[in-house]
Amino acid sequence: MSASVSLRHVNKVYAQRAKNPIYAVKDFNIEIKPGEIVALLGSSGCGKTSTLRMIAGFEEVTEGEILIGDRPVHRLAPAKRNVAMAFEGYSLYPPLTLRQNIAFALKGERLDTAEVSRRVDAISKLLELDKHLDRYPSSVSAGQQQRASLGRALVRKADIYLLDEPMGQLEPQLRAALRGRLKRYLREHRMTAILVTHDQTEANALADRIAVMEGGRLQQFASPGELKDAPANLFVGTFIGEPPMNVYRVRPSLGEGRVSFRGAGDGKAEVLSYAESEFSAPIRQLIGKGEEIVLGIRPHDVRVGEGASLGEIVSNQWIGDQTHMEAAFPGGVIVSTLDARHPGRMGEPVKLAIPAGKLHIFAGDGRAIAHGTRLV
Ligand SMILES: Nc1ncnc2c1ncn2[C@@H]1O[C@H](COP(=O)(O)OP(=O)(O)OP(=O)(O)O)[C@@H](O)[C@H]1O
Ligand SMILES: [Mg+2]
Repeated sequence: MSASVSLRHVNKVYAQRAKNPIYAVKDFNIEIKPGEIVALLGSSGCGKTSTLRMIAGFEEVTEGEILIGDRPVHRLAPAKRNVAMAFEGYSLYPPLTLRQNIAFALKGERLDTAEVSRRVDAISKLLELDKHLDRYPSSVSAGQQQRASLGRALVRKADIYLLDEPMGQLEPQLRAALRGRLKRYLREHRMTAILVTHDQTEANALADRIAVMEGGRLQQFASPGELKDAPANLFVGTFIGEPPMNVYRVRPSLGEGRVSFRGAGDGKAEVLSYAESEFSAPIRQLIGKGEEIVLGIRPHDVRVGEGASLGEIVSNQWIGDQTHMEAAFPGGVIVSTLDARHPGRMGEPVKLAIPAGKLHIFAGDGRAIAHGTRLV
């Protein structure tokens, strides 16, 4: 049932012969294990759908190889790949009811009518579609069409399941409920699934590993925890995590037992300063070169009310379960999050501590150099 998926040096170029070809996917490599749930995460236009459609066979692979299990499939017709896909645009058959649409996916499996009904009913229940099965696509909501499209993919027995934004149209409550059920269903049936989303909560909640894409390139393929703790570059660092990581372009210097980071811009103000002993020898050595770097600080890692650094509160918002605080400090503005409410008002001073062990250090070109005390 569940198969591995490998993409090797996969490229997609649209309008290859036109004056301005579109390089949608560039040298994409990934190895997905049988039964693994993988999310493709990235901003609009980064190449997620193109990648999925190439795996399914609806888009030609311009260059490279795709394997399902140990079977090269990139030259096979879609029907020969044994892949089930839920499309971004649903593509339901208008003259068929939702029940018939979902059942249609089972045509190839030659099941008896009772078994078809049983399977369609089970998946419809899971997706809370059971009350709408006798309606036509044109007479149900976008969210219901989307769930029917998801049902049509899940009801099949296939080697892999490709789900393109399968819950994008749903309201947050239903989305969260379905997310849990979908995950349990995929796990119980040991299904290999690739899910496209631009919602990082969804990716974190559902996926074993997340492939972060930008500009057609795979930026990092890792578990949600690893993406957060050890982003491979500044793009992943700032893309993953809400609110985003604070970043400061600085030049480090060593002297008199201290490490000092000064703004790389005109001001040259000291942004942060630490005792040298807070950094490991390899990181000190690296910093000692004095080259421009980028410091990344996650809002959650800023300790408000502690330490010597002084900031001035710019805004303090309670968003229902967290405080988001913005403060001006010599590095510019720093955003922090706290689990509790904070009494501070705009314009008031606030103490801020940023432990050296929580700093993410990136090279000037964005490559990660160190996460906390760990060199990359
Ligand atoms: N049929 C096509 N012909 C020409 N260019 C295309 C075609 N399909 C996609 N593209 C271009 O390829 C790039 C990647 O598109 P793709 O649909 O894969 O992005 P995506 O990550 O799925 O975005 P979204 O989140 O908006 O769905 C974009 O620049 C897009 O304009
Ligand atoms: Mg898309």
